[in-house]
Amino acid sequence: MSKVLLKNQPLVVPGAVVLVSAGTMDGPHDATTIAWASNMASEPPAAAIGVRQSRYIYGLIKEHKAFVINLPPSSKLWELDYCGTVSGRDTDKFAATHLTPVPAEKVKAVMVAEFPVNLECEVFSVVPAGSHDIFVARIVAIHAEEEVLDASGRLDQLKMGGVAYGAGTYFSLGKALGRHGLSQQVKK
Ligand SMILES: Cc1cc2nc3c(=O)[nH]c(=O)nc-3n(C[C@H](O)[C@H](O)[C@H](O)COP(=O)(O)O)c2cc1C
Repeated sequence: MSKVLLKNQPLVVPGAVVLVSAGTMDGPHDATTIAWASNMASEPPAAAIGVRQSRYIYGLIKEHKAFVINLPPSSKLWELDYCGTVSGRDTDKFAATHLTPVPAEKVKAVMVAEFPVNLECEVFSVVPAGSHDIFVARIVAIHAEEEVLDASGRLDQLKMGGVAYGAGTYFSLGKALGRHGLSQQVKK
């Protein structure tokens, strides 16, 4: 099988795209679209996001050592794209998108009321990675609307209608392909 060499680039795709919020209710706050977001550890739960130093939200996360990952439903694609296109430095994105900031319970940050799942994150490490710094954080609380949970109380990603992103394009999650462990049930 012949392959061509591509230019070196951050090409782990498709991946998550989330709306990260930070800052306080009574002080400056912001919500910014972040595609470089990932789970990092399960015990205790950790996540990481890659944020360019020039982003307005970068300073808010650094100051309060906290942020919230708000998982987007596809119905909020316009708001998600908007918050990744203008800066909170010169625009109140919450006013412009009619999204509502509400205080997180465990960390010093706001979360976005209209997004169905909010992960409160407490930063414990900042890793310089070049153009972006990586904020590594403990997930210290998760809020979820009942409408996006299955009968066992677990997040149902298809019900949430999540969004994926890669190389400039947004994707919806079309259908579930199978459950973890399927390779043990069927012989190839
Ligand atoms: C789909 C999408 C994904 C993005 N992912 C990232 C990212 O992972 N890291 C980052 O620093 N900026 C990312 N950006 C760019 C910021 O969201 C954008 O520059 C935003 O306007 C910064 O706002 P702020 O200055 O209020 O923080 C992304 C933008 C879009 C549209």
